[in-house]
Amino acid sequence: MKFFVDTANLEQIKDAAVMGIMDGVTTNPSLMAKEGITGKDNILNHYKAICALVDGDVSAEVISTDFDGIVAEGKVLAALHPNIVVKVPMIEEGIKAIRWFTDNGIRTNCTLVFSAGQAILAAKAGATYLSPFIGRVDDSGWDGMQLIEQIANIYAIQDFRTEILAASIRNPLHIVKAAENGADVVTCPLSAIKGLLKHPLTDIGLAKFLEDAKKL
Ligand code: G3P
Repeated sequence: MKFFVDTANLEQIKDAAVMGIMDGVTTNPSLMAKEGITGKDNILNHYKAICALVDGDVSAEVISTDFDGIVAEGKVLAALHPNIVVKVPMIEEGIKAIRWFTDNGIRTNCTLVFSAGQAILAAKAGATYLSPFIGRVDDSGWDGMQLIEQIANIYAIQDFRTEILAASIRNPLHIVKAAENGADVVTCPLSAIKGLLKHPLTDIGLAKFLEDAKKL
């Protein structure tokens, strides 16, 4: 399973790169706004700065919602760097654009996915990645992991090549469950990835080893 870091924060991306566990980065307009990046040129330059730090795919999201606008924006984003994957919302115009990008050799990440039906449609259009928003499904009282399992089963039965990128991952258990239920990729804040390190018995065991080492 691949680990993407869900952030537009360059320090967090550098930190993840140093750990050696980062396979890519995902961003969205909310994450860009959180970093205070505004204006078209600054946004495009920020994507270039992210790509310079990442040896892997970087999802950059369009903000247009009509076919022509999505395609025009996607072409500009894809031209920034070979690692750019164009992130497109799960709407009718988005599906049309994903088909266009697929036919023209531009990779896509279909975002804001909340149902198996949407997952089938994105795969039919040839999306490279599919982003079901696990945390937000859980927030509404549904089971995000059940959705991952259902999509993974459908994609396996139908031999769809679209990769399941479990998104809106908020904690280490989400990562473990996504792995268990067949996600190809998880994208999450670095804090959730670092949370995988934690176990009190590791801390207790290490303290004891270090104490005993003093006797050697
Ligand atoms: O990858 C999608 C993610 O950024 C959304 O996360 O926590 O806002 O639901 P969240």
